[in-house]
Amino acid sequence: MQIAMIQDKIVPAGELDPVYSDRGMYFGDGVYEVMRSYDGRLFALEEHLRRFARSLAAIEISGVDIEVIRARILRAFEAAGIANAKIYFQVTHGSGPRDRVWSPDLKPNFFLTVSEVGDSTKEKAKGIAVSTFPDWRWKRCDIKSLNLLANVLASNDAARKGCSEAILVDQAGLVTEGSGSAFFAVRGQTLQTAPLTANILPSITREFAIKASRNIGLEVLEESFTPAQAAGADELFLAVTTKDIVPVVKFDGTSIGDGKPGKYTKQITEEFRSFTR
Ligand code: PDD
Repeated sequence: MQIAMIQDKIVPAGELDPVYSDRGMYFGDGVYEVMRSYDGRLFALEEHLRRFARSLAAIEISGVDIEVIRARILRAFEAAGIANAKIYFQVTHGSGPRDRVWSPDLKPNFFLTVSEVGDSTKEKAKGIAVSTFPDWRWKRCDIKSLNLLANVLASNDAARKGCSEAILVDQAGLVTEGSGSAFFAVRGQTLQTAPLTANILPSITREFAIKASRNIGLEVLEESFTPAQAAGADELFLAVTTKDIVPVVKFDGTSIGDGKPGKYTKQITEEFRSFTR
């Protein structure tokens, strides 16, 4: 490369900020995590670090010491001084020439942000509407990869329809998960959600939601279901780090139950909160 152009400015290749040759930018060649704190305490740090280490290994990024990542998270969280914080961090394969094959001497790039967790009180109180979208993602959705184009397209389709989340449906006609959340149905005394396979992210909130459901006496069925089954469920909700449990009251235009957040969803939310105190 001789020159680069950033917007309308020509930059000699030698002066280019390495951020412009990051493999994360060219290829989405990196992995990330989103975690949070409740009232000044980090939640599920070990679980997030474990999943991050797994994602790094899955895309063959080596040389990242998880203890160094832990120390950086703690330092940034302390420096930000935000009680209810959302912590985003990513590691890419590094900066280098745009070649699909990575060079063994690339150094991984680390990036982290701390911000205030968004207020989801209203969504939780009233419940949200969701709409379905084809699951166009790749075959390793269990890796928390920076490649989120299929999720981005799905979320924008939902937003255009006035919905808060897209629920992804695979080629077999089964619900996998939300564009950025795990998805659950309650029928009778049973909680149902897709099983942990390469088709979904091993959501950390999902694990706590399952634990909360068992604690309140629900049966848990990890088996995929169809959009029609979702539309006919007694209750629906989604689970994600930044919002924990969010009731779903409309599915592709169909009202769920009496159109208000369900009683088990409320109990699961309460039980979940007890894990965070
Ligand atoms: N997304 N499924 C997908 C596809 C997700 O992107 C997420 C989270 C989840 C829920 O995972 P967890 O319970 O571990 O947050 C499920 C994060 C928050 C994001 O991309 O911003």
